[in-house]
Amino acid sequence: MNNNFQTFYSENAYATYALGIEIGRNLTDHIVLLKGDMGVGKTLLTKGIVKGLELTDDVTSPTFALVNVYDQGAKQVYHFDLYRLTDLDELYEIGFDDYLKGDGIVIIEWPEPVEPYLEPPLLCIEIENPDHQDTRRITLKGMNL
Ligand SMILES: Nc1ncnc2c1ncn2[C@@H]1O[C@H](COP(=O)(O)OP(=O)(O)OP(=O)(O)O)[C@@H](O)[C@H]1O
Ligand SMILES: [Mg+2]
Repeated sequence: MNNNFQTFYSENAYATYALGIEIGRNLTDHIVLLKGDMGVGKTLLTKGIVKGLELTDDVTSPTFALVNVYDQGAKQVYHFDLYRLTDLDELYEIGFDDYLKGDGIVIIEWPEPVEPYLEPPLLCIEIENPDHQDTRRITLKGMNL
């Protein structure tokens, strides 16, 4: 597999949102994984990606629902947050396989529990907070970069 890397530095929340818009505009992958510590900016980057895909839905954290569906655009987006997932069965009960097979874009915060089951190509984004202040290091890894 040809895994390419790209690294960006974001100095503030708006820059992360703006990078998300760029990623959304150029997205060719069907699955996007968002890794990083709590509060690092995964949902904010998702808001940008959804905006870049030209959807008009309001993006909120799906922490309590496992998935939020955004459908006010040409493509649907299925936004998962698996932080509170305790059992993979919960995910398969809500039709995770169907979301993966569907035409929409699947964006997953805290994807580690399902990562072994996902087929490439996919885009993996890791957000780090190296100075423990506002700067974020955002690394994109995927075949299609
Ligand atoms: N450079 C930056 N990039 C992104 N967010 C930043 C940055 N600087 C400060 N922030 C702040 O960090 C927070 C990121 O919150 P967000 O909900 O996107 O994190 P998250 O990774 O989704 O958290 P969780 O793991 O709880 O889902 C926001 O309050 C945002 O304003
Ligand atoms: Mg979040």
